[in-house]
Amino acid sequence: MKRIAVLTSGGDAPGMNAAIRAVVRTGIGRGWEVFGVRHGYAGLISGDMGALSARDVGGILQRGGTILGSARSAEFETVAGREKAIRNLNIQGIEALVVIGGNGSQTGAHCLSQMGFPVVGVASTIDNDLVGSDITIGVDTALNIALEAIDRLKTTASSHQRAFLIEIMGRHCGYLALMAAIAGGAEAVLLPEVDTEPEALAKELHAAYLRGKPHALVVVAEGAKYNAEAMAAYFRTHKEQCGFDLRVTTLGHVQRGGTPGAFDRILATRLGNGATEALARGERGVLVGFIKGEIMTTPLADVVGKQKPLDPRLVDMAGVLAK
Ligand code: F6P
Repeated sequence: MKRIAVLTSGGDAPGMNAAIRAVVRTGIGRGWEVFGVRHGYAGLISGDMGALSARDVGGILQRGGTILGSARSAEFETVAGREKAIRNLNIQGIEALVVIGGNGSQTGAHCLSQMGFPVVGVASTIDNDLVGSDITIGVDTALNIALEAIDRLKTTASSHQRAFLIEIMGRHCGYLALMAAIAGGAEAVLLPEVDTEPEALAKELHAAYLRGKPHALVVVAEGAKYNAEAMAAYFRTHKEQCGFDLRVTTLGHVQRGGTPGAFDRILATRLGNGATEALARGERGVLVGFIKGEIMTTPLADVVGKQKPLDPRLVDMAGVLAK
């Protein structure tokens, strides 16, 4: 192997830069040249790529976002788009590609791999919905950002005896919301994996009000059956059912921005290094993830199109502790 490339794709995640740095420096350490592809799969299609030196990836370990840029490319979802991408990789003499990203990005990686191009994926998404990694790059930092917001909201909620609906990202997966609810001591959590009707939540909040709670924090996963806005609409017309005065906060992309914490820097570094080492071992068409404390590979065929389930014991525990 002489030349590989690396790209970041889909939603960015704090720690992606640490992963890029690890891929580049591990590759250079092996005597390879490492190209960076700009703006994810879109850059593969337009041929926007160039060599990265060890110095080019200096000082990025602690930076949020991705120095390569990221995108979601509709053209790459077509066979013609992927053929163009492979043609550009071949023109540059690139023999293998590292794809740092989440579910959609690894689906793209799997497609390239099925078309015969050597690819290794790195598990990176704040959603933590990827099969093949117990935890993915960005989750820990995003969770800490959510917790800071929850802690702050709790103080103002208590001052005014209010309920807050706090909407948290995660797409179709409730992992971030559930963990934020547990670590933030929320009174309730709404998850995509468990349907909760507005009447049931109103009952829970009213019972908390009668028990004398000074506040009620409800963590709402963006993918829940009723997101924060839909739930709030119900409470606006059924004020008497809740007890508390109610406010809504949507964290949104704040959760994806800023400096990665120590956990994500180390995880991303290990996964980026692991991806390059996997290529050196001759592994192809696999996702590099963190399983039971070890850096492991899982065939992309066993990863794509699946969603990691939530642990039902943690869902139950969150309910018990909210009382
Ligand atoms: O997959 C990461 C994620 O942040 C999801 O949690 C969220 O649903 C989505 O990306 C938002 O996408 P965009 O950045 O395109 O608005």
